[in-house]
Amino acid sequence: IAPNGGSKLRFTAIAPVPRNRDAMTVPEGYDWAPIIRWGDPLFNHAPKFNIAKQSAKRQAGQFGYNNDYLNVIVDKYSGRSGVLVANHEYTNEDLMFDPQWFEANKAEAARIAMAAHGFSVVEVKRAKSGGPWSYIRGGERNRRITATTVFAIDGPAAGSALLQTTSDPTGRKVLGTLNNCAGGTTPWGTVLSGEENFNQYFRGTGSATDARYGIADEATERGWEDVDARFSARNPGYKNEANRFGWIVEIDPQNPDSVPVKHTALGRFKHEGANVRIADDKRVVAYSGDDERFDYVYKFVSAKKYRRGDRRHNMTLLSAGDLYVARFSGNSPAPEIDGSAAVPADGSFDGTGTWLPLVKDGASMIQGMSVEEVLIYTRLAGDKAGATKMDRPEDVEPSPVTGKLYIALTNNTQRNTAGKASVDEANPRTRNRDGHVIELTERNNDATATEFSWNILLVAGDPATDKSTYFSGYPKEKVSPISCPDNLAFDSKGNLWISTDGQPGTIGYCDALHKVTLNGEERGKVEQFLAVPAGAETCGPLVHDRDGSVFVSVQHPGEGGTFNEPISFFPDYVKTAGKTKRGEVYGPRPSVVQVFTDTKGRGSRK
Ligand code: FEO
Ligand code: CA
Ligand code: CA
Ligand code: CA
Repeated sequence: IAPNGGSKLRFTAIAPVPRNRDAMTVPEGYDWAPIIRWGDPLFNHAPKFNIAKQSAKRQAGQFGYNNDYLNVIVDKYSGRSGVLVANHEYTNEDLMFDPQWFEANKAEAARIAMAAHGFSVVEVKRAKSGGPWSYIRGGERNRRITATTVFAIDGPAAGSALLQTTSDPTGRKVLGTLNNCAGGTTPWGTVLSGEENFNQYFRGTGSATDARYGIADEATERGWEDVDARFSARNPGYKNEANRFGWIVEIDPQNPDSVPVKHTALGRFKHEGANVRIADDKRVVAYSGDDERFDYVYKFVSAKKYRRGDRRHNMTLLSAGDLYVARFSGNSPAPEIDGSAAVPADGSFDGTGTWLPLVKDGASMIQGMSVEEVLIYTRLAGDKAGATKMDRPEDVEPSPVTGKLYIALTNNTQRNTAGKASVDEANPRTRNRDGHVIELTERNNDATATEFSWNILLVAGDPATDKSTYFSGYPKEKVSPISCPDNLAFDSKGNLWISTDGQPGTIGYCDALHKVTLNGEERGKVEQFLAVPAGAETCGPLVHDRDGSVFVSVQHPGEGGTFNEPISFFPDYVKTAGKTKRGEVYGPRPSVVQVFTDTKGRGSRK
């Protein structure tokens, strides 16, 4: 194994950045620039961003807020054109709006927020292969998807009585997608994304099933139910509206007229995202985590087979198949690590596991639940199956090089607290503040297998102060501190890249992007590549190492500050006078950033 994990993207790890530093920090020899920012116009008719004039109509033609999942899909033959796809997870009203204006215009603010959710698809170009990208206003494939865009519901639960509302008696057509977090691009070029914390948008029925999803019969903080009746189950005909969210959505970024789809076959939960691997027999397998404390890891195996080059056929693959949930078994007495180093007697956190069927060959495998119920109330089916309660499964992604699956477990401070589940070998840390990452190998490396083995790649934290950290045996004094692993990506050599969400509140450093070597003597070596500005989360990492570039979504920069007292001016860093009339140049703005090699070697700048 070559040094540097074989990667051409060479860098010296940066030092961790104190949490209040409002700067994008990249390694020596690299520079960065935003490609597109919140409010940048996608269409020729869309107005330029002006915070003082923002409206729902303007927002619907502009890049949305809080980009999370990201891909730059390069056109095959040119290498100099492509589409950038980003989703927009949620909105930070206290950063977006002047508080005085907000109080007087709550309905319009809610409509702006709805238009700032969803997706953006935007064409990008570059002067030469390997050079930095810029976005094309008015590009042919440019598209905004918002909270009011029509989606088709497909799969076994489509049309179910549990999905019908007074606006949609068919149960097959729903408006919008919400809280899209991580995602994945399929081998056939579509983009998958998870509807994650969708519960926060709905006033529920007060039922036990709603409660399992965190949906309460209480006024929501966002107050969308005051603007659009469907957001409250109390309004006649809308008790099922919340059942129409919590799905994996698939969009075709090459066709702006295509109808995006919600796939019921993959189950309904707080999907972080989904990532697809093609099995040896050409069925496709989609892996997905449910990001909640003590929730589960799932996989879907398609009924039909992938056909190379047949895009229309492949876009039906996620519509029917088997759904499984994971049970992990340790092979040592459960170690309990609570502030002190503890590696099991056999030297590693590892064991075997089983994919427990929830739906198989079109039939429910859960007693007392129909297929529709298993797919719509998947969490309850996982409970009944006896799945392993995990420490918040975030991105779950197979390596395109080895097929091994990596599971980011971001944290779970409630592990071993009163009334909550205790540690097990796969979730070995009490009050797990910093999270860990599991590596899972399917039996015979067959993605459709129902048995697997697993081990913990790393137990995160700051090794300088936390003895319970573990990096597959790699010397702790040589790794970058890392906490709250969230999004995962791979470079072309199969090194794992991990972005974090929550380091400022745990180890006191700005959120970061790290490279982790998986193979050879340096397995477990964590090297920090970049840090995002104060208040921001690092999302959507994308590593084009052959091009010498890395992309990140910088989400909620300045969170923790307010409109009038910002803690971040990312990405433009122009502090304009006046509190409300900041005009076009304004900060903070969530943005997609490209990091590229820079012959001037500037490294980092504000
Ligand atoms: Fe939106 Fe699980 O992070
Ligand atoms: Ca073990
Ligand atoms: Ca996430
Ligand atoms: Ca990912």
